[in-house]
Amino acid sequence: MIMEGTNRKKCLIAASVLSADFSKLGEEIRDVEKSGADWIHFDVTDGHFVQNLTMGTLAVEAARKSTKLPLDVHLMIEHPERFITLFADAGADYISVHYETAMHLHRTVSLIREAGAKPGVALGPSTPVSHLKWILEYIDYVLILSVSPGFGGQEVISNALERIKTVDGMIKETGREILIQGDGGINMSTIQNFASAGVNVFTIGSALFDSPDYSQAIKQLRERISA
Ligand code: DX5
Ligand code: ZN
Repeated sequence: MIMEGTNRKKCLIAASVLSADFSKLGEEIRDVEKSGADWIHFDVTDGHFVQNLTMGTLAVEAARKSTKLPLDVHLMIEHPERFITLFADAGADYISVHYETAMHLHRTVSLIREAGAKPGVALGPSTPVSHLKWILEYIDYVLILSVSPGFGGQEVISNALERIKTVDGMIKETGREILIQGDGGINMSTIQNFASAGVNVFTIGSALFDSPDYSQAIKQLRERISA
């Protein structure tokens, strides 16, 4: 997890296309790739677990044709187990499911791995992080939502940082390399706090796609991480 020659953790920027211009999604994805993004993040909702309908396998399949970057699918849906194979076949490299929706979490996580993707578990902002204890050793990343799920452009719920620190401690105890993905409200003013708390994967929606120059935005965000 530690980058060579530094004592810093691996730091990745995941561009959350929820805030992209969908009339030119392919172009947007190519632009953020050229500008230095590391992952492309897809927020999938079902109108049940969250009050919003966003995107599905077709968006992931189309993106797969536009980029070689890892595609990271954040499933904010009920019965996620029914859709794992479809998203993996569409080209997802990382798939996270919410603790709150996965009835048999270990089975769902195993399904993700069998489908050829890397499994993550996502926690909504009021879900105790202690629920990760018995699943941590089976997953590759934890997604901590720092806003209520489903919408971009919201402000961070401040207890997110304490939750991330606790998860960081739990991960250290396992001795395994498990990434911590921060998601929601990460921007120029907040990113450094997320980095200090232990985040490796910084999900950025509005702070990236609302900016006039994606390269400049990513460069400045990275500078803030290491400031
Ligand atoms: C929220 C989503 C996020 C969202 C982040 O439910 O999971 O990925 O796109 O958007 P920003 O960065 O604008 O808070
Ligand atoms: Zn997300």
